[in-house]
Amino acid sequence: MSYNSIVMSVKFQAVRGTHDLLPDQTAHFQQLEARARALFGQFGFHEIRTPTFEALELFHRSLGETTDIVEKEMYVFEDRGGRKLALRPEGTAGVVRAFIEHHLAQTNPVCKLFYIGPMFRAERPQAGRYREFWQIGAEYFGNPYPEADAELLLMVQTLYRALGLTDVQFKLNSLGDATCRPVYRRALTDYLEAEKPGLCEDCVRRMAKNPFRILDCKIDGPRLKNLPTIDSFWCGDCRIHFKAVTSLLEKAGGQYVFTPRLVRGLDYYTRTVFEVSTSSLGAQDPPSSASKEEGLASKQERSQGALAAGGRYDTLVKQIGGPDVPALGFALGSERTLDALKAAKTQPAASRGVLVFVAAQGEETVPAAFQLLQELRSNPQLGERHISVEGGFFQKKLGAQLTLADRLDARYCVIMGQDELEKGEITFRSLKESTQTRIPRQKLISHLLDVIPAEAGIQP
Ligand code: HAM
Repeated sequence: MSYNSIVMSVKFQAVRGTHDLLPDQTAHFQQLEARARALFGQFGFHEIRTPTFEALELFHRSLGETTDIVEKEMYVFEDRGGRKLALRPEGTAGVVRAFIEHHLAQTNPVCKLFYIGPMFRAERPQAGRYREFWQIGAEYFGNPYPEADAELLLMVQTLYRALGLTDVQFKLNSLGDATCRPVYRRALTDYLEAEKPGLCEDCVRRMAKNPFRILDCKIDGPRLKNLPTIDSFWCGDCRIHFKAVTSLLEKAGGQYVFTPRLVRGLDYYTRTVFEVSTSSLGAQDPPSSASKEEGLASKQERSQGALAAGGRYDTLVKQIGGPDVPALGFALGSERTLDALKAAKTQPAASRGVLVFVAAQGEETVPAAFQLLQELRSNPQLGERHISVEGGFFQKKLGAQLTLADRLDARYCVIMGQDELEKGEITFRSLKESTQTRIPRQKLISHLLDVIPAEAGIQP
């Protein structure tokens, strides 16, 4: 076989770990994004769009050199100028970079930003875990108080409630700060020293670089039941902060499950961290949602069920060259959130609006029918009502055009025949009711606006 015929016989497929979003799926994505946009707006967040790739060094400095993402999950490349770049594995680093670069701290004493976009991680693909996936995230700069933590958590909870997902758990912990975390780290390492011979390869490596991740290890985590947890080491300020967050949440009707072993896969967090999970995706969470205390959550449970995660990162802005501004944020995985909605059967029906089909009968009517098609498609009032218009199969027999309209699930059909053309009329047919009437051509738009109520065409 020649090289050319081998090349020609290759069947192209989406790259492993990536996936196409076909129109039915994009409709669900759009609904989720619309809900998030509306709600984030109510909480005072404004949209930011940052590039999908950044300087590699930005991710090293912000996510942490020893995190799984930086060590083995980034798509790194060199551009033509020899610059080392990476596809963004998450959104926070880029947003913080933009916050610093555009001096947003000076122009916005309270700066609340949200973003929607694809992220890239070279993880082992499996159900709900992709190499390119979508996140909806929010970052809140300039508020060091527990009110901000509680507000962010409540925003996330309100979003999941608005989406109709009730089977959701909000795990909450505090990772302490520069005062208490080093003390905890020492205690943890001392404890682990005795366990070292039994630790898995990854954990032996983590012990020196990032011992907190051992709590999260699928192999060693569940086995080491007596590992000390951070809450016994919180300094006074961190304890007060955490207590205030939980008490604000309780007062405002928020939920949380205190999870002292909750750590995150990113190094930038200080104090509050949280994770949103659900058992709808098949994860077996411990049956302790009623209590405020949770024992062990294995990594497997978390990775399968983690819909969203976030927390406070008070030192990150300064760490990557900006002013000393506290911040916090979260991101949800769109695919996982939509999978959970689907599993819980609460996914709203995807609506494509109302379709009107334009048909013609007879060759002389084609230019007039085509003109009509364009007139309807360019009418802003119909556009606002999400009324879409299909046509352009005028060379087919009328019966075949009507069959096509039916297959497309069109609600109405507008027929331009020879007689209609001569009299300045059109035939208006309701495909659901199988009724039809003649109306003057120039009244067509007002007729459509009358028969299709404003809310009928609008996507929820
Ligand atoms: P993260 O926990 O790495 O946090 O990711 C947030 C969410 O993105 C996860 O809970 C999950 O739903 C989704 N996700 C992550 N990896 C994948 C994947 N490979 N396939 C599908 N979905 C995935 C962050 O990214 C932080 N930037 C969140 C944050 C914002 N913290 C502060 N501000």
